Amino acid sequence: MKLLLSLLLLISIISYSKSCDSNGSCGNSPFTLCKNNVTLLENDGQRIDIDKTNGRILFTIKYGDEFEPRVVSVPLEPSEQANPNNYLKSQNTLYGQTTYTKVIGLIQLVGSVSQDIVIDIERRIAGPTSNIFFPNNTIGNELTWNQIGNFIFKETTNTQYTCWPYSSKIFKGDIGKYNDLGGTLYNGPCGEMKTNDINNDLYIYDGTSVIYKGSLNPSTNGTYIRDLPIVYNETKPYTIKEFDISSTDLYYSNTIDKKIYSVSLADTFGPKKTILSDLPSSFQYYNNFIFYSLNGKIGRVNVVSGLNEILFDSSLNKSHCICAQGFQGESCDHCDQSNNLISWVNGIPRCIPLTSDGNPITCDYDYQCKTGTCREVPISGGVKGC
Ligand SMILES: *[C@@H]1O[C@H](CO)[C@@H](O)[C@H](O)[C@H]1NC(C)=O
Ligand SMILES: *[C@@H]1O[C@H](CO)[C@@H](O)[C@H](O)[C@H]1NC(C)=O
Ligand SMILES: *[C@@H]1O[C@H](CO)[C@@H](O)[C@H](O)[C@H]1NC(C)=O
Ligand SMILES: *[C@@H]1O[C@H](CO)[C@@H](O)[C@H](O)[C@H]1NC(C)=O
Ligand SMILES: *[C@@H]1O[C@H](CO)[C@@H](O)[C@H](O)[C@H]1NC(C)=O
Ligand SMILES: *[C@@H]1O[C@H](CO)[C@@H](O)[C@H](O)[C@H]1NC(C)=O
Repeated sequence: MKLLLSLLLLISIISYSKSCDSNGSCGNSPFTLCKNNVTLLENDGQRIDIDKTNGRILFTIKYGDEFEPRVVSVPLEPSEQANPNNYLKSQNTLYGQTTYTKVIGLIQLVGSVSQDIVIDIERRIAGPTSNIFFPNNTIGNELTWNQIGNFIFKETTNTQYTCWPYSSKIFKGDIGKYNDLGGTLYNGPCGEMKTNDINNDLYIYDGTSVIYKGSLNPSTNGTYIRDLPIVYNETKPYTIKEFDISSTDLYYSNTIDKKIYSVSLADTFGPKKTILSDLPSSFQYYNNFIFYSLNGKIGRVNVVSGLNEILFDSSLNKSHCICAQGFQGESCDHCDQSNNLISWVNGIPRCIPLTSDGNPITCDYDYQCKTGTCREVPISGGVKGC
């Protein structure tokens, strides 16, 4: 009998580890949910990013039965079988859409310590803005407007480097300040910048065709970017979509060839190698892999062996266990009720942040609002507010 029981237990553990089939199979139901019908949001400028300290890749998704997109993460290794419950982790529920703002999704992780992220918001008047978004699911300061920025963050020194195409400058300042990107490091067009943390090297794409080499700590400030040494010059202008740098190579995606190429930093005008024969919506280099988002999938390709592996595939419409909206922690039951309210709809809870006036950022019922009315916010796409 005992043997039979442990055998049954073993079988249930095995099937449990494949994918969930009911909310009850996800541990702490209903705070932990079994969900499907997920879409990877990748075609409106959402990007992937890597939390190197925690070994996870972050990206933006949306479930068919939820209004708010979420930033989620999976491990950098394709290890779902080994870790079924915490494979897909809900990092943030992107609350905060209003009449004037549409929440687009993840741009970058600020750092492993704060777990703050930068998100892209589409403003109806000003165009896109880059905004800090906190782990408690609230929007913080606006960093850039009109065109989103590209950032390098150093949490240990509270430093933020900003490449802001709109102002044609690279700035150095403190992390997350409103309307204050700090002092000017470089002048001239900047489309994207990256560092590989070697000798403070800073690689700058001018947004047209050339990648230059500067420094995070230049001996003179205000140098014109086009006076810096050239690292790479793409023959077809405006075809570099994104680039990244390892200690040895430059990687870039090309919109005409629809490929990711690598060239050696030692000889960037030498031969190039095809790393991926597809144009990902976003990619990043880390630890011998190119991580990318493409056609509903998050994948990684080994830059040495070429081995391509899928880490998350929304097109399979598989069920995953995930925390209910806004909840955090291993058991998905963490919701700080001094700053949030728990709202139950059809037996499913969500943890909704409160604004300074005591109203929830979004609402489900009239009684949750000080005014006594919870209604659809005008031209917001359907979000409800007080
Ligand atoms: C989880 O519960 C919700 C709400 O009752 C339900 O809509 C959903 O289908 C359930 N998920 C599964 C996989 O049964
Ligand atoms: C995903 O699967 C669920 C459950 O089988 C189904 O209701 C839903 O329509 C599917 N979604 C897509 C996009 O295929
Ligand atoms: C699945 O999600 C899509 C888009 O998010 C939605 O239009 C569709 O109704 C959903 N299907 C189900 C069965 O929930
Ligand atoms: C350049 O400007 C940055 C940001 O204002 C400042 O931190 C740095 O000390 C300046 N460097 C020089 C060489 O003036
Ligand atoms: C890059 O190459 C093009 C020709 O392919 C040339 O016209 C252009 O001047 C080069 N840019 C720089 C900065 O050297
Ligand atoms: C969320 O976190 C930020 C930054 O720590 C803080 O300023 C803000 O008051 C918090 N808001 C809520 C609702 O907890």
